[in-house]
Amino acid sequence: MRVALGVGGGIAAYKAAELARALLDRGATVQVIMTDAALEFVTPLTFAALTGRKVITSLFSNRGADEVLSSAVEHIHVAQDNDALLVAPATADLLAKFAHGLAGDFLTTTYLAFTGRVILAPAMNTNMWLHAATQANLDVLRGRGHTVIEPETGLLACGTSGPGRLAEPGRIADEVVRLLMARHGLAGETVLLTAGPTQEALDPVRYISNRSSGKMGYALAEAAALRGARVILVSGPANLPVPAGVELVRVKTALEMRDAVMGRLEEATIVIKAAAVADYHLREVPAEKTKKTASGWMLSLEPTPDILAEVGRNKGDRLLVGFAAETQNLEAEGRRKLEAKNCDMVVANLVGQEGTGFESDSNAVTLVMRTGANVAVPRGSKRVIAERILDQVMTLRQAPGRTS
Ligand code: CTP
Repeated sequence: MRVALGVGGGIAAYKAAELARALLDRGATVQVIMTDAALEFVTPLTFAALTGRKVITSLFSNRGADEVLSSAVEHIHVAQDNDALLVAPATADLLAKFAHGLAGDFLTTTYLAFTGRVILAPAMNTNMWLHAATQANLDVLRGRGHTVIEPETGLLACGTSGPGRLAEPGRIADEVVRLLMARHGLAGETVLLTAGPTQEALDPVRYISNRSSGKMGYALAEAAALRGARVILVSGPANLPVPAGVELVRVKTALEMRDAVMGRLEEATIVIKAAAVADYHLREVPAEKTKKTASGWMLSLEPTPDILAEVGRNKGDRLLVGFAAETQNLEAEGRRKLEAKNCDMVVANLVGQEGTGFESDSNAVTLVMRTGANVAVPRGSKRVIAERILDQVMTLRQAPGRTS
């Protein structure tokens, strides 16, 4: 467990020394990064003595030309070399900078370059904590999948009482360990994921498709890779960046997706079918563009192969997760699809409403489990929903008696 510990400039900065100690006690290596403001409260020597490592301070100040050159890329190394970026105390100023992507010093540049687990332990005056600006920044940061360890309520250094006191260092360290263990929970697994819509040609210039953006599948790919899985992402046309460490297989049609999935099934231990596959297509696509006629255009569409059902029939001891996009009867339809397609879990989501489903950044879903349970996941960003789906995948993985 390698933790980069960012220390912000607040009175609670002295508690970060105790936190570093608690992390070391739990077997972590700790690389401390201090902001300029933190230097006003504690000295780097304290942390250097505790961790046995050089403490990183500001990005460019007080350095010679050679040092500036090496430090210009050092934040990239720190970002790559650590499993978690823990910021404690996370001041209101740091939360705002992270939320808006400001990158003026070592800690904020490291944050932007970091792809692992980000954990924020805020501490500040109660009114600053409760201020709408701080809460809005926290919403943004939670929406990115970061963990916020809420401050405790008590007497603060400013003499007032209320929420704002840094969580107890032992509690923060325990949470970091728990999250990092979860992060490695899919090591050794190969996750075969599908995402996005498919496009079914009607002629050389036209196609039919659906409203899927691919965001849910890409969020799952990113989250699974961060948990240590090898990820093969079979994606229909989607205009999204490929998450780091994910192998992308691009397809267009349902038939191409079917071939890609069945061709890679042998490698997979977990299959997650988030794609919105077209149910119908034109079997014979005309070679020439169809000309406009006054009488209209009758199309005779035929069903595409149901990829999820085919994987279900050939699943062996793989774990199979399907999706159900519904406009009504969410749970009943989810369970019907779970049984019909031999899934272990169906992620049932309501589509066709504002703020949920296909094109939205957020979602609210019900996880219909083969154990008989229905797990409601409240509205959250697709990244947060992805984490909850993978939590349940890992629970099923650990449960005895998988169906095959
Ligand atoms: N699916 C698939 N192949 C298809 C159609 C759907 O693999 N040709 C998968 C989707 O990836 C999803 C699940 O089946 O994981 C359910 O998709 P959905 O469109 O909700 O259900 P359908 O089975 O198509 O049923 P209906 O459209 O009648 O609700």
